[in-house]
Amino acid sequence: MTVPTVVVAGVGRFGALHARVWAEAGARLVGLVDPDTARLTEMAQAHRVDETDNALAPLLDRVRPDVVVIASDEASHVGLAVTALESGCHVFVEKPLALSSTDAWRIADTAAAHRRQVVAGHISRFTAPMARMRAGIEGGAVGTLCALRLRRDFSRAWYLSFGDRVHPVWESCIHDIDLAISFVRTPVRRVVAMCSGAAGAAAPSVVSALLEFDNGVTATVESAWLVPATAPGTLDDGPLTLDGAIVGEVEVLGLAGMFKQRLVSDALVEWTGAGVQVPDMSLWPEEDGVVGGALRREVGYALAVFAGRRDPDLMPVEEACWGVAAAEAVVESLRTGLPVEPARR
Ligand SMILES: NC(=O)c1ccc[n+]([C@@H]2O[C@H](COP(=O)([O-])OP(=O)(O)OC[C@H]3O[C@@H](n4cnc5c(N)ncnc54)[C@H](O)[C@@H]3O)[C@@H](O)[C@H]2O)c1
Repeated sequence: MTVPTVVVAGVGRFGALHARVWAEAGARLVGLVDPDTARLTEMAQAHRVDETDNALAPLLDRVRPDVVVIASDEASHVGLAVTALESGCHVFVEKPLALSSTDAWRIADTAAAHRRQVVAGHISRFTAPMARMRAGIEGGAVGTLCALRLRRDFSRAWYLSFGDRVHPVWESCIHDIDLAISFVRTPVRRVVAMCSGAAGAAAPSVVSALLEFDNGVTATVESAWLVPATAPGTLDDGPLTLDGAIVGEVEVLGLAGMFKQRLVSDALVEWTGAGVQVPDMSLWPEEDGVVGGALRREVGYALAVFAGRRDPDLMPVEEACWGVAAAEAVVESLRTGLPVEPARR
């Protein structure tokens, strides 16, 4: 690959940001796909892309890109990923990789069969504090790892607009399940979970899960989509068109030490006519007119993996599959009220 060519499938909120970041990272956008024709036309003009289609397969027949970036609704990830891999493309797929362990392994197997790479978009792995914590754990800074505590709360307004498009475990908890896997680096062997706040909705807005890894490390994963509109915004005015707040924390507990990190940085506090903001500076901050932070690092990593310039060691597809299996077990435990062992190969 000299200048890698990229098709983005799904150009909603996050797909539009991906289109921008992949171009800023040196790729050439050669096609966009979305079933929403009005949105597709708007995005094609904004990103100056000539080739568009409502479906991926016909576009891939016309344009033969190196990479397909999937940023569509969660349920469509598996079909789009398999189509792209079978066409010989590398795939970047937003979280969650898939909505079942069977589908996740199908993506991994298809990639292996076609000798292509898959990078799942677990952005939290790519923030600087998480990279430092992972290196610290691997270097023995906290001694024997015992437990993890992870919490991620989202704006109530997001729940009301799209929060139960899929079960919130696949939207919010999957980030923290994956982070825990990135620290422990074994599969999860058992989960038990409880939920609340469901009144009248298709899915709960509060989830608490306890995970036990193969090596005995435990992790609590909690998520509540209850942050009120009065809370200081963390994403307002950023390059993603999604006003609201993420409030979260990660703790790593070892026999010889602990790490604690807020998930979105509150180092900057703004009191202005727009209200109180604590803008996130870690996920996708604008720096010198381009998007930086974890999203830029993640895209740079994926481009290097796709070009064969580095091993897929930071986000192996196998670990994304473990995360899907654990999330699936959390959903099942919420349904049955019982402990569940995640599916294995
Ligand atoms: N990593 C993160 O921090 C982060 C943040 C936001 C969203 N996401 C993920 O990005 C994905 C998209 O989320 P969003 O908030 O942009 O949603 P969105 O609803 O704004 O956009 C989804 C788009 O996908 C399109 N689409 C649906 N089916 C399709 C198909 N078969 N082929 C192509 N396009 C299709 C829809 O028409 C829509 O335009 C989800 O997987 C979500 O979990 C990740």
